[in-house]
Amino acid sequence: MEVLITADRIQARVEELATEIVCAYDGKPVTVVGILTGCLVFTADLIRRINLPLRVAFITASSYRGETVVPGRLEIRDELLPDITGRHILLLDDILDTGKTLTRVVAHLIDRGAASVKVGVLLRKIGRQEVPFEPDFVGFTIPDKFVVGYGLDFNDEYRHLPFVGVLLSGE
Ligand code: XMP
Repeated sequence: MEVLITADRIQARVEELATEIVCAYDGKPVTVVGILTGCLVFTADLIRRINLPLRVAFITASSYRGETVVPGRLEIRDELLPDITGRHILLLDDILDTGKTLTRVVAHLIDRGAASVKVGVLLRKIGRQEVPFEPDFVGFTIPDKFVVGYGLDFNDEYRHLPFVGVLLSGE
């Protein structure tokens, strides 16, 4: 495993992001919505540093990525989402890759009556975006490599690692 972003750098950047978020919301209550499961560690670390009236909820968005008959289809499940009518949403995801997931989930939350949706991602991959999408808060931009750790997985492993790394062949 090659460490791409150390645990210390992540913690320092999460602290900065929390400050940016607190400034942006300026005392307004916010509902943080994390996209499971990759958002888990990022969300847990970030919310503990956000000094605002805050609710937390989760949503799932699974992309079939060609494994089924309908390649690229995205299934959004929001049974765990409370009523978000009129609420200001901060949507969190682990990584912005093609941009398709976040575009769809933002539209879904607006559809459900959110007053506003801002988006925060820990990572943004360079050169991968297929749809125009501008997140409001970005932790790090990274090269086009498959990364794991700090919530990100390969076959559901490695999510617990405190750093972001690149798997070397044979691991
Ligand atoms: P899109 O392409 O819709 O996808 O922006 C975002 C989702 O794709 C997954 N993804 C990754 N997961 N390492 C991972 O563990 C990666 O390098 C990676 N790139 C994309 C992830 O689930 C993300 O939410």
